[in-house]
Amino acid sequence: MSTDEIMELALKLAGLKEIPEDSAIYTGGKNIRKILFGIDAGSPELLLAKQLGYDAVIAHHPVGGKAAVNSYKVFKRHIQQMVAAGIPENEAEKAVGKKLKQMEVEAHTRNYDHSVDVARLLKMPYMNIHTPLDEVGRRKMSEQINSKIRRNSTVQDVVSALKELPEFRKATTEIKIRVGNAGNPAGKAVVSHGAGTNGGYDIAKAYFNHGIGTLIYIHISPADLERIKADGKGNLIVTGHIASDSVGINPFIHELEKRDVSATTIGVVPR
Ligand SMILES: [Fe+2]
Ligand SMILES: [Fe+2]
Repeated sequence: MSTDEIMELALKLAGLKEIPEDSAIYTGGKNIRKILFGIDAGSPELLLAKQLGYDAVIAHHPVGGKAAVNSYKVFKRHIQQMVAAGIPENEAEKAVGKKLKQMEVEAHTRNYDHSVDVARLLKMPYMNIHTPLDEVGRRKMSEQINSKIRRNSTVQDVVSALKELPEFRKATTEIKIRVGNAGNPAGKAVVSHGAGTNGGYDIAKAYFNHGIGTLIYIHISPADLERIKADGKGNLIVTGHIASDSVGINPFIHELEKRDVSATTIGVVPR
C-alpha cells in the first residue's frame, strides 16, 4: 500500500471525507508491507524502523508539520458531538471556546519539524493518524454501551459494558468512576472522544446541564476533575488514555493485515 492508501483506509473506517487537521503524511511512500506503528513515534522509532527493516512509521499522536501546529482545530469536533447529544449549538460553542484558544496558544511551543526532518534524512515514509482512529474508537465504545444499557442501568453497568472490550480487560489502567457512584442511575450516557483531547471542565458541565447522566472521557486533568466534582452534578467515567486509544487503533491494524500489510505496534494494548 502507499501512504495515501493507508490514510484513505483510516478515513473510510472513521466515515470521514477529509484528512483532519491533526493527521498528516509527512514523507510519502509506496509498496509498504511492514509498518512500525506507535501511539507515539518520533525520531527514536524512525531510527529503530530503519534498523529493523520496516517500510514505514505511523504514529497515532500528531508529531510534526501542520498536524502539530493545527491539531487544536479538531477540538471543534466537540461541538458536533455535543449538538448530537442535544446541547444547543451556541452553548456547545461557548463550552469549547476557552480551551480551544488555550490549545492554539500552546501549539506555538512545538518543535514541529524535528522528527519530520529525521524521517527525511532516513528516507523513511512517515505519517500520523489521530482523529480518524479516535473516531473509530468513540463509535466502538458508544455502540458497546448502547447495546448493553437499558433505562434502569447504573453507572457500574456502563463500566461493565466497556470492560467487555478486550483492550480494557488487558490494560494496566482501570476504568474509573471519577465523579458519582457505581450504584447511581446512568441516565443518558455519552462517549466524548475523537476531538483532539478531552473536553475538560466546561464541556463536561455543558453535558451535565443538558440531561446527560453519565459522561465518558478517556482522560482528564486533576484540576478539571476537582472542578467537576465540586459542582456535584453528573457521573464521569474515565476509561484510560492508552487503553481507549487502542480500541480505535486495533480495528485499523486488523484492516491493514487484511491487505497484506503487517504491523508491529509500540505501546498499543493488544486485543
Ligand atoms: Fe487517541
Ligand atoms: Fe491519545
